[in-house]
Amino acid sequence: MTQAKIIDGKAIADSVRREVAEGVAAFKRQQGGVPGLAVVLVGEDPASKVYVGTKAKQTIEVGMASFEHKLEATVGEAELLKLIGELNRRRDVSGILVQLPLPKHIDAAKVIEAIDPAKDVDGFHPINAGRIATGSGGLAPCTPTGCLILAKSVQPKLEGLDAVVIGRSNIVGKPMAQLLLNENCTVTVAHSRTRDLPAVVKRADLVIAAVGRAEMVRGSWLKPGAIVIDVGIQRVPGAAGKARLVGDVAYQEAMEVASAVTPVPGGVGPMTVACLLQNTLKAAQAQGG
Ligand code: GUN
Repeated sequence: MTQAKIIDGKAIADSVRREVAEGVAAFKRQQGGVPGLAVVLVGEDPASKVYVGTKAKQTIEVGMASFEHKLEATVGEAELLKLIGELNRRRDVSGILVQLPLPKHIDAAKVIEAIDPAKDVDGFHPINAGRIATGSGGLAPCTPTGCLILAKSVQPKLEGLDAVVIGRSNIVGKPMAQLLLNENCTVTVAHSRTRDLPAVVKRADLVIAAVGRAEMVRGSWLKPGAIVIDVGIQRVPGAAGKARLVGDVAYQEAMEVASAVTPVPGGVGPMTVACLLQNTLKAAQAQGG
């Protein structure tokens, strides 16, 4: 039995970052300054701290300026909105990212809507969501953008494919569906209330799994030859009491049926930050330095 191709997200993310670094160097020659990314972290969530650290490190590696703003978990909503207002006005800040989730006493939607859409490098502002939905430009969310690049790395033209997106979050599922529609795929968005999910997935030439349930999608659900992009990442107990990381798809099973599969880790994960850097450069270019 031939095994599916493993889509190397780490290598593809490296090449996206190299392209961004070249773009940053050209921007610097033309404009004088460099693009800047401001990351706002509220509270002490350990996973969020790791993400924010990775973002800052890679921002600097591609030659951009990194501004980190760490606020206490008890910070008031008004104070956070005031900081966003300041970052919106700063000319050296091209992109603003507020790490989610936010503490419960802060209205995340209000915070996202306070970000200047031109600096919304997460692509979460309703203006950008609307632009993506109408195919009229805008900054697209980073994880779905990364998934699209990975799918195109095995099949450059996605036109006409039956694509099934599992998950309907504002961060991944919904924008993913819009980006695939823009590629002329026939898109189905499945979710927790979908009836007979295995039968829905069976139709798909391209499966994007973004549900956050460890190994939920089985090999037997897949159409032979499908391309599988796995957004999930969960820690589960492994052999000898050691934790292991798994995705939303049963990887070994999928490898027997699909034509190409993203691994976890090393698939979608590294692409998200690479696409964030790409969005920051794009935002800086649109702002004209
Ligand atoms: N938390 C988990 N994923 C993300 C993301 O893509 N952007 C932000 N801002 N927060 C997140």
